[in-house]
Amino acid sequence: MHRDRIRLDSLHSKVMTAAQAAALIEDGMTVGMSGFTRAGEAKAVPAALAERARVTPLKISLMTGASLGNDLDKQLTEAGVLARRMPFQVDSTLRKAINDGSVMFIDQHLSDTVEQLRNRQIKAVDLAVIECVAITEEGHLVLSTSVGNSASFAILAKQVIVEINLSQPLELEGLHDIYIPSYRPTRLPIPVLKADTRIGNIAVQIDPAKIAGIVISNQPDSPSTVLPPDDDTKAIANHLVEFFKNEVREDRLTNSLMPLQAGIGTIANAVMHGLIDSPFTDMTMYSEVLQDSTFDLFDAGKLAFASGSSMTLSARKHEEVFADFNRYKSRLVLRPQEISNHPEVIRRLGIIGINTALEFDLYGNVNSTHVCGTRMMNGIGGSGDFARNAHLAIFVTKSIAKGGAISSVVPMVSHVDHTEHDVDILVTEQGLADLRGLAPRERARVIIDNCVHPDFRQALSEYFNKACGMGGHTPHILRDALAWHINLEETGRMLAS
Ligand code: COA
Repeated sequence: MHRDRIRLDSLHSKVMTAAQAAALIEDGMTVGMSGFTRAGEAKAVPAALAERARVTPLKISLMTGASLGNDLDKQLTEAGVLARRMPFQVDSTLRKAINDGSVMFIDQHLSDTVEQLRNRQIKAVDLAVIECVAITEEGHLVLSTSVGNSASFAILAKQVIVEINLSQPLELEGLHDIYIPSYRPTRLPIPVLKADTRIGNIAVQIDPAKIAGIVISNQPDSPSTVLPPDDDTKAIANHLVEFFKNEVREDRLTNSLMPLQAGIGTIANAVMHGLIDSPFTDMTMYSEVLQDSTFDLFDAGKLAFASGSSMTLSARKHEEVFADFNRYKSRLVLRPQEISNHPEVIRRLGIIGINTALEFDLYGNVNSTHVCGTRMMNGIGGSGDFARNAHLAIFVTKSIAKGGAISSVVPMVSHVDHTEHDVDILVTEQGLADLRGLAPRERARVIIDNCVHPDFRQALSEYFNKACGMGGHTPHILRDALAWHINLEETGRMLAS
C-alpha cells in the first residue's frame, strides 16, 4: 500500500483508479492541474478524462502552471474536453484548436494566474489534480518535478485528486519551497533576498479532508525536446558573453553577473550553454524552468545555485541527474511560479532575463507569441514577468526563420508582447544591439547595423530612412509598416527574392 508515499493512514481508503478519479470531474467545471514546462503534470487522470469524454462528451476550463507533457493537451483537445485553457501551452494540436477558435485560450503572465484566482477575479477552481511524490503524515502534499501553480490550486480548490507518481524519486522531497503571499491589504514583502533564500515549507499544507481521491501512477515526465546548440545559437551566446565581459570591465556587473533567468526553448538553452566557456564563475539562476544547461553549468563548476519552478530535462540528462540527485539537491530550489516570477523579487534581485522573440522591430518592440499578428504560437509565458522588471531585459532570436523567407527583424511587429520600454538588449547571430539610453531613431540605427540579416538589411534601412523623412518621434509609414507580413501571407516570403 505504498506507506512510504502515503504516510497518513486515513488516506489509504482514498486510493482509486484513474477512471474513478476522472469521474469526479463534472461537465462545466474549472480544473487546476499540476504541470509546468512538461514537468510534474498529473498524467493518469487527464488521460482517463480524455478517454471518458470520447464516450460521454464533457467540457472543462483547464488551468495549469504552464505546458503539459505526455501529449495530454493533444489528447484532451482531440477528445473535445477543453472549452477554455490557460495560461500557457506548447502543443501543436491544441495550438490549431486555439487558432481556429474552438478553444478559448487566455495567454497570461505566468505570475498572474493564481493572483487572479485568489482575488476572485476569475472563476474559482472546483477541483485540483496534482502530481506528488508523497503525502506526509499530516496529509500535506510533496510535489514532484514542478511547483508551478499546484500549491495554490490545491489550497483554493474545493476538492483535490492526488496522483502519486512512483516513477518520480522520493529524493525530490525537500527540494520545494512553498510560500503563498498573504491577502491584501495586509500583504507582507516577499522575503526572498537572494536566489537561494528559502522562505516557505517543503510541502503544500492543505486539509487532508479535501483529498477526494488518490491515484497511483508510474509514467515519467516527457523528455525535453530542445535541440543542441548550432552555429547560430552559439554565435548568439558569444555576442552575449562579450557583452557581459564588457559590463564587468565597466564595473556594472561583477564576475558572477546577476541572477540569470533563461526562457524556454532551444535558443535560450543554447545561450545558457554558452556560459560554460565564459570567464564568469559563481553564477546563480533565478529562473522558471531549469533545463539541461543548468546542470551542465553545475558540472562545469560555473553555477553556485539555481532557483526555478520546474526541471525539464532531456532523457540523457534526466538519467545523469537522477543517478546522483543528492549531488545537486542542496544547490536547487523549486518555487511556486508566482514567486519565481514575482515582479517584487525580480526587481530586488536584479535579474538578467534572457528570453526568445519570434520577431522584433526597428524600435525594440518584441513579439513572442503571434505569427503574423494572428496565429498563437505558445504564449507569453513568464517572459513579460521578467522583462518588465529585470536589471537587464534581453531578447534573443535568429535573424531569419523558415529558411530565410522571414526576417525576425521587421519594420513594425505584428503583435506586441514586450514594448520598447521593457527591452534593453537585442541579440541575433549577426550581433547585439544595446538599446539602453537610446531614443527610437538611435535604436533603429543600432538594430539595423547589428541584428538584421544581410538579405534584409538594405530594405529595412530604406524603410527607416523613408519613415524618417515623414517625421515623428518613432518614424513609421503606416501604409508600409506591415507590408513584409502581408507579402509573407500572400507569397510565402517577406521580400521578393
Ligand atoms: N515568424 C514565424 N515563425 C517563426 C519566427 C517568425 N518571425 N521566428 C521563429 N519562428 C518559428 C521557427 O521557424 C520554429 O518553427 P518550427 O517549430 O516549425 O521549426 C518555431 O518558431 C520555434 O522557433 P525556434 O527558432 O526553434 O526557437 P525556440 O524553440 O527557442 O522558440 C519561441 C522560440 C519564441 C516560440 C519560444 O521561446 C516561446 O514560446 N517564447 C514565448 C514564451 C517565453 O518567452 N517564455 C519564457 C519564459 S517561460
